[in-house]
Amino acid sequence: MPPFLGIAPGHGSIAAGSGKTARHIAWQRLGSIPESQINCKYSFLDILFGKIVDPHFWMHLNLDFSPQRKYHEVMPVDPHDLRLAMRRWTTGVTVVSAAARAVRHGMTVSSFTSVSLDPPLVLVSLDRESSTHRLVEQIRSFGVSILSDDQRGISDRFAGRIYTDTDRFVGLDTFNLVTGAPLLAHSLAAFDCQVVSSFETGTQTLFIGEVLAVKTGVEGFPLIYFNQDYRSLMK
Ligand SMILES: Cc1cc2nc3c(=O)[nH]c(=O)nc-3n(C[C@H](O)[C@H](O)[C@H](O)COP(=O)(O)O)c2cc1C
Repeated sequence: MPPFLGIAPGHGSIAAGSGKTARHIAWQRLGSIPESQINCKYSFLDILFGKIVDPHFWMHLNLDFSPQRKYHEVMPVDPHDLRLAMRRWTTGVTVVSAAARAVRHGMTVSSFTSVSLDPPLVLVSLDRESSTHRLVEQIRSFGVSILSDDQRGISDRFAGRIYTDTDRFVGLDTFNLVTGAPLLAHSLAAFDCQVVSSFETGTQTLFIGEVLAVKTGVEGFPLIYFNQDYRSLMK
């Protein structure tokens, strides 16, 4: 909880004793706010209850959000809360794949995004503990197949939710474009990419791939992932 949230009710007497109002103290605790701003028309409760919609108010406050304020120390995000919030984010579903000599592997990935059209760049975020990550890091290329809503079983298979042979592609129709990454037939679209940059952050590596070849596939509706479940645009 930010410190200023705790002081308003309990510090009425201090405020009275020092000649300052609770509003005054609360405002000062909010940041380095000039004296002239403190006696503004809004009260601390207005802030607390989110009543201030005037963007000029916030701009003029000139709140200092620079790293030295160490907001992450003041308000640590509860991982559970973050997970709940992220479940409300809707994504499509892809399979990211790679191949090196006799080995081919892939995993279900929702963190896929277009970065730039010219040059043609896409991004995927892969868990560094995953086998697919190891393969992509080694050969510096990957494929992406966008799944359709009748490929839920494939998503589960490549997420390791249902047991398969170590080769997750067994029994599936695949094709190659340039790098040899196995791409899924019957997907909505497929991209073949060469890694041009990568950033390690948190548990993940963000791989940015230059798209070397692309192929649109079947016409259909995308597989959608929302709140831990698959959805379809048809539902
Ligand atoms: C819908 C869905 C989306 C997923 N998206 C990602 C993702 O974006 N990045 C990631 O690292 N793992 C993601 N996963 C988890 C991986 O698919 C899972 O850990 C997989 O088993 C890793 O396989 P591997 O270790 O054999 O490569 C997702 C799983 C599901 C079901």
